[in-house]
Amino acid sequence: MNKIVVAGGRKLKGRVRVSGAKNASLAVLCAAMMSTGEVTLENVPAINDIFVLADILRGLGAEVKWLDRGLLYLKPPDRVSCEGATYPEVKKLRASSLLLGPLLARFGCARVALPGGCNIGIRPMDLHFKGLVGLGADLTLEHGCISAESKGLKGARIYLDFPSVGATENIMMAACLAKGQTVIENVAKEPELVDLANFLNSLGARVRGAGTDVIKVEGTGGCLDGGRYSIIPDRIEAGTFMVAAAASRGEVIVENVIPFHLQPVTAKLREAGVDVEEREDKILVSGSKPYQNIDIKTMPYPGFPTDMQSPMMAMLCTVPGLSLITENIFENRFQVVNELKRMGASIKVEGRVAVIEGVPEVQGAQVRATDLRAGAALVVAGLLANGETEISNAELIYRGYEDLVDKLSSLGAVIRGEDGEDCAGPAGRATGEWS
Ligand code: UD1
Repeated sequence: MNKIVVAGGRKLKGRVRVSGAKNASLAVLCAAMMSTGEVTLENVPAINDIFVLADILRGLGAEVKWLDRGLLYLKPPDRVSCEGATYPEVKKLRASSLLLGPLLARFGCARVALPGGCNIGIRPMDLHFKGLVGLGADLTLEHGCISAESKGLKGARIYLDFPSVGATENIMMAACLAKGQTVIENVAKEPELVDLANFLNSLGARVRGAGTDVIKVEGTGGCLDGGRYSIIPDRIEAGTFMVAAAASRGEVIVENVIPFHLQPVTAKLREAGVDVEEREDKILVSGSKPYQNIDIKTMPYPGFPTDMQSPMMAMLCTVPGLSLITENIFENRFQVVNELKRMGASIKVEGRVAVIEGVPEVQGAQVRATDLRAGAALVVAGLLANGETEISNAELIYRGYEDLVDKLSSLGAVIRGEDGEDCAGPAGRATGEWS
């Protein structure tokens, strides 16, 4: 099992460049299956989630290859088998459920295993199904798999009971190839979804309103063209470096970011007393003053992102006073609490609320990453801890962070991957746990 070992007590200092967004890249790769041409994507992170999805797409007959660092080429097949993605593959990567809409729209059928429970919550797909049925798909559940078929999708008006990112993406993608107009109401507004819409439009789709509460899609009734597209920077990776810099009381310039996407994180760090300066495509973070306790509520974008909740909790462990974190998106996203407590943190969880009582210091310990962002939180805790922290199950961290160990080392952290290996290679692939 892979490990990351961090020696605490070093102030991070320097510049770090953020990679392309994981969640945008995953959705865009799924959408690329609707193209009849060749698609080249820039700024794709070399992370395990992308490797797993690329393998799934190859299994469906697509040609997928890295042309250079960050540059990924994809040529979809002319047809796919209706067997589609099989259960073990979807279990490895929940995002592969985003193939349902594109495969259904392009090839008239898709078979995707129903995701089971996962570490951060139940994560049902009812809203994805509601939308696709609304567009005219026939869905049947057999042996834990959803089979979707259609003789041609038709535009429709669909209301989402919750602004689910994945459901909005799946329905928006399928609607691009439907006949007529689709209106999707109460949609998610996450930047990665806007990036997906921009990508679809760059291939000839007609999507309007991404980033607002209502998305309108004029279906082309056919396929999409090929093209070249550059993925936005990863705001969660950027936020993690901001929090790590603040927690270590360092001074870091986080480069290749869209500061607007990070406003909820910036606002909360400032409230805690961290100095944050926004420039055009970079953010300067420094922590010299004493910090204050804060309250955080996770919300759909533009609210505070659930993916930043655990790293922020790690930082708050040593901030004097009581800080409250309310998790409103996923019902089981406090598993990191037990690990932080092993490091000496004082945290109580009641339902969806975690109460963090700042302690003078946390200590290095042997801890385990329970999900991707929990793993990132343990790295942050390790940076501010007294002594050495050994994080096992670290392959989960490599699912979503490109070169994390190297990037933190370049900022002065004393950190290493197990055996000094780059765990993002095939040997370090994650299995069975999602984000
Ligand atoms: C995406 C992100 C994930 C992020 C999350 C919330 C990807 C690959 N992952 O996950 O990193 O943490 O958005 O910003 O982009 N729900 C339903 N029914 C559905 C779908 C969702 O009830 O059909 C519920 C979920 O159980 C959850 C909430 O809606 O409680 C949010 O889920 P959703 O926005 O769909 O997240 P994902 O797309 O899975």
